[in-house]
Amino acid sequence: MLKLENKVAIITGGGSGIGRAISELFASEGAYVHILDLNTEGAADVVKTIESRGGTARVHACNVGNQQEVVEIVQAIGQVDILVNNAGIAHVGNLEKCGEEDFERVFQVNVKGAYNALYAAIPAMKANGGGAILNLASIAAVVGIADRFAYSMSKGAIYAMSMSIARDYMADNIRSNSISPARVHTPFVDGFIAKNYPGQEAEMFEKLSKSQPIGRMATPEEIAKLALFLCSDDAGFITGNDYPIDGGFIKLNN
Ligand SMILES: NC(=O)c1ccc[n+]([C@@H]2O[C@H](COP(=O)([O-])OP(=O)(O)OC[C@H]3O[C@@H](n4cnc5c(N)ncnc54)[C@H](O)[C@@H]3O)[C@@H](O)[C@H]2O)c1
Repeated sequence: MLKLENKVAIITGGGSGIGRAISELFASEGAYVHILDLNTEGAADVVKTIESRGGTARVHACNVGNQQEVVEIVQAIGQVDILVNNAGIAHVGNLEKCGEEDFERVFQVNVKGAYNALYAAIPAMKANGGGAILNLASIAAVVGIADRFAYSMSKGAIYAMSMSIARDYMADNIRSNSISPARVHTPFVDGFIAKNYPGQEAEMFEKLSKSQPIGRMATPEEIAKLALFLCSDDAGFITGNDYPIDGGFIKLNN
């Protein structure tokens, strides 16, 4: 028996990195995967891979920061069993390097994007008798990471929203948890190294790898396995928690 047989899963930002790995794994476990992403090319490639393995998936061109777009797509999908709030963007800089535009851009995607997807999906889950929500937080939600002011703010909000939803919708059989990865080797990491440390890419990659006591970054597939467990019925007793997946970053960096 597949772990997500007959389940419908919405994965935001499923066209790349962690979201891609989650989409592929969920589909291989029987879920009908709906990817909401701005990057329709990447998402179409994920769907192609899923279909070539016998799974089912669909791309929905969507800016998660736009509530109307998200609501219309989720209403058209109808049945929603699983929501993974994964779409996110980075910003490097302390408070003085975070202008209003930077702050608003990060807020719009990382915080409002998750709120919009929750706003759209909760009524569908209630109508469907329950569901599982997984929110991508980060170690930055609970640890002071240098030069990540706006990003940390957004991940702290994800952490708190996840708990609030867990409390308010327990009686509706909706579980809500978050996961907090340390560095995961995805285009997100490669992109911000290239943008913020031009000419020092290899050095920064090494430095970021070593900041996990385990000595490397996670793979997207490792994150997807934890996501699968938390979104499956195997985790039926788990709600209102955050799960670090961090190679020892939070507790062993001493
Ligand atoms: N990579 C890491 O080290 C790491 C660590 C901790 C947490 N995270 C979190 O995991 C999530 C995924 O990260 P990743 O590394 O796979 O990133 P990624 O850049 O590889 O993928 C992010 C996806 O989100 C999509 N996206 C961005 N803005 C969007 C928008 N407005 N509407 C719809 N889709 C949008 C992008 O098109 C892309 O497909 C993010 O929330 C990130 O903050 C990543």
